[in-house]
This record gives sequence, C-alpha cells and structure tokens, in this order.
Amino acid sequence: MNPQKLTDTARMLVANDKGLLAMDESNPTCNKRFARLGIPQTEEARRAYRELIVTTPGLGEFISGAILCDETIRQQKKDGTPFVKVIADAGIILGIKVDAGAKDLAGHPGEKITEGLDGLRERLAEYSQMGARFAKWRAVIAVGDGIPSRASIEANAQALARYAAMCQEAGLVPVVEPEVLMDGGHTLERCSEVTEQVLRTVFNQLYTQRVPLEGMILKPNMVLPGLTCPRQEAVNEVADATVRCLLRAVPAAVPGIAFLSGGQSAELASARLNAMNVRFKSRLPWALAFSFARAIQQPALEIWRGAEAHVLAAQQALYHRAMCNQAARRGLYNAAMETA
Ligand code: 13P
Repeated sequence: MNPQKLTDTARMLVANDKGLLAMDESNPTCNKRFARLGIPQTEEARRAYRELIVTTPGLGEFISGAILCDETIRQQKKDGTPFVKVIADAGIILGIKVDAGAKDLAGHPGEKITEGLDGLRERLAEYSQMGARFAKWRAVIAVGDGIPSRASIEANAQALARYAAMCQEAGLVPVVEPEVLMDGGHTLERCSEVTEQVLRTVFNQLYTQRVPLEGMILKPNMVLPGLTCPRQEAVNEVADATVRCLLRAVPAAVPGIAFLSGGQSAELASARLNAMNVRFKSRLPWALAFSFARAIQQPALEIWRGAEAHVLAAQQALYHRAMCNQAARRGLYNAAMETA
C-alpha cells in the first residue's frame, strides 16, 4: 500500500467540483429499469446503454470517476474500443463495484447483509490490473418498526471496513457506502438518528480495521424523511439536517463525501446538494460531492428507451445533469438551469 497515492486518488475524485457517476447497476437492477421503459433486458442492450453513457461528449468536465460493474468493465464499444480506454481517454478515473449484493440477514426479517468478501483480494488484483483506481461496496440499512437492529448495523459496518482495508492493500481507494434507505414512513429525525448511529459504527470499524481515512471516500445517504412520511421537509431543512449529522459523525480526515441519490428526483438531489454547499461549504472539513446513479442517469434513460435515434438527445440530458451537479457543488445551481 502507498498511502500517499491513495490520498492523491481520493482527492482527485473530489477535485475541481466534479463528482462520481455510478453506472454499476447489477444486471437484475439494470434489467428492472429497462423493463419499466420497454427496453429489452439483454446483455447487448446493457452494453449499448453503457456505450451511450461513456461516449457522452464532454462528460469529463463534470465527472471525475465512473463506477462500473463487472460486466461493463469487460465490454467494448460497437467499434471494438474497450470501455476502459474510452473512459481513460475522457480523463475519467475508472472505478469498480466489488460487492456481491445485499442478501437476507439470518434471524433478522426485513434486514440485509452485503456479501462479497470471499475471493475479494484476487478480484481486486484483477481490477487493478485492468486500470481501476477505486472501488465501491454498498451496505443497505432499512428503517422500520424495530429496525435497524444492532446486528445489521454492526455486521454491515464490519464488512465495509474489511472491504476498505483490502482495497487499500490493493492500491484502490474504497468508496464506503452505507445507505440508510428512504423506503417507509419514518421522519427526517429518525433518518438522522439512524444515519448518525450507522456512520459512527462504520468509522469505529474503519479505525479497528486500520483504514487510513485520508485514502477513502464516504458515500452516504442524505438525511431525508421516508418516502411515505406525510411531512416532507424543504430543501434547506434537509441540507441543515444532513450537514449536522455528518459533522457529528464523519472525521475531518476524510477528503470527500459523495452522496448517493437513493431514489430522489434528479432536480431535488441537485437542489439539496446545492443548498448544503451554499449554506456550509466554507465551514466544512471535507468536500461535499455526488456519486449519483439515478439522479444523473434517469432522465437520459427515459429519453433513450433503447432507440439508436435517441442517443444524442439522451447524451445531452446526461451531460446536463452532470453539469447541474457540478454547479450544485459550487452552490451555483438554480431551478432556471432546468428550463434553459
Ligand atoms: P443512486 O444514486 O441511484 O442511489 O445510486 C447510487 C449507487 O451507486 C447505489 O449503490
């Protein structure tokens, strides 16, 4: 492990007000999103869609790193150029999702544990050889009656820390993603309480597993009311609650926090990130960035719908969302950008 190299990569991932593009949906998740729009659920359709994304002109102006899944990192453009080369040529850092998905946690109905530690060292070595410089692992924490349990928080935090230590050993920056889900009717206060508890447990485990925090990126949820909670706070209230929670639980040594979008609309995700940077940027120890999948891709996917003739329009939509999110990092995003 070269700690300075890890620190440099982690800083580069959040430099110049850029952010990460998560395009690492598992095949089942990608297929589900395709099915809703009548797109064939085939390897070729997934390849064509990912080609659309990585060939979007100018994407590297706003996107520092792209997270791929195992299928995508091995694919090529129709003309045979490997995606890995297209991404490097765009000035974008290559990242890879290395978890094996969230499975039912035994003895804990409604809760999940992310698997994928077995054989991870060998997979990381292969991805590193393919050019990956960072990796991602997502843990999911559900909120509900009597959950999350201590068991689900601790098991997921320990797996995240063991994954992070192994990434650093292999020279890859770990993107540590503990996602407190939006599903349910819980309040923003409850989300804040659970998120703080989860983050404190994750950072304890990272310390126990000897993970230097300078060489990682945290990818958390924003602090939000549940999707079906009757009270939906305004953008500024979400920004305040999120930053307050992070200040309490995330050590200053972490170079960057890159939010997941988690099912928020693209516009809301940009507006909330913008509000955090407007209200707090000058007082924060870490960069507040983005690592969105749906909040960057969804409008483009809805335009594309599997049709070659829609590729350019879809790329324009993707470019626009990436631009809006860089503006949000600068506190310069506003609703007028959506109608321009
Ligand atoms: P969303 O932004 O769609 O939540 O996805 C982020 C991600 O990478 C989930 O692991």
